[in-house]
Amino acid sequence: MRSHFLKLSDHAPQTVLKLVREAVRIRRKGLKGKPLNGKTIALFFEKSSTRTRVAFQTGIYQMGGFSMMLRPDEIQLGRGESHRDTAKVLSRYLDAVVIRTNEHEQLVDFAEYSSIPVINALTDEYHPCQAIADFATLLDVKGKLKGLKIGYVGDGNNVANSLLTGAAMLGVDIALATPERYRPSDEVMARAVMFARTTGAKITLTSSPEEAAAGADALYTDVWVSMGQESEAERRRKDFAGYIVDAKLLKSAKRDCKVMHCLPAHRGEEISAEVMDGPASIIFEQAEYKLHAQKAVLKMFLGKGK
Ligand code: CP
Ligand code: NVA
Repeated sequence: MRSHFLKLSDHAPQTVLKLVREAVRIRRKGLKGKPLNGKTIALFFEKSSTRTRVAFQTGIYQMGGFSMMLRPDEIQLGRGESHRDTAKVLSRYLDAVVIRTNEHEQLVDFAEYSSIPVINALTDEYHPCQAIADFATLLDVKGKLKGLKIGYVGDGNNVANSLLTGAAMLGVDIALATPERYRPSDEVMARAVMFARTTGAKITLTSSPEEAAAGADALYTDVWVSMGQESEAERRRKDFAGYIVDAKLLKSAKRDCKVMHCLPAHRGEEISAEVMDGPASIIFEQAEYKLHAQKAVLKMFLGKGK
């Protein structure tokens, strides 16, 4: 098994399924013992975070480990020390690093020079811990994954990339409705299509939210403007007008369709308040699953007997 958790497609589909199942098991039965006893894990976050950060720190504490938060302006990286040198040095003190950064390549570079596990807590391209929480929530709520259909509406961003990859790896059908220029990259699509060939997952790219919603077991959306895209906000708000999960769209989906969002959300943009706070929403269960899913990731990548 690879020792870093940078993106889902670096791993085998069985590994991803194991993480998802383990998250559900942790949610239902709890974790035995303290698998991180004596371990120190740093969280290096170059972007804001509520769920990922707090769930990691809480999870590490509950698993018997110690976590420390590192912000770029507090360490020499912020003054220009390289990712490579930082990785080499931190590897001599710590047992793992959880990183939230901008370009995925920065994370890959850091991991290459790190002799301890590096866990991706979000880059501009991927959010694998989110996807584990998402599929664990779905498995818990629906009792199965294979054969389900997710309709994703909005931006083909980091969250969408990991959701698409995970769906392909786990045999979940997925239809992504995005304006044409906001579709997942060819690279992400090619990998997803490769996994879908073995699992039988059906992947659809469309510009029509109604097409994505048709027959969906879950409708998923994320913000139109991700962290770091603030200068594009005005253009994006125009481009994404109509890409909203609201009561009307929900009617195009299955009767028992659930609504998901990785959060933070902008009510009135990508999701209506009525749907977000309504009976179909499993958004806050999903947020809770960040804790269980990240514990599953920590246990697999650095727990005892990993
Ligand atoms: N969903 C998610 O990653 O939330 P945060 O940005 O608050 O960590
Ligand atoms: N796509 C969002 C996800 C936040 C968890 C962002 O990158 O800002």
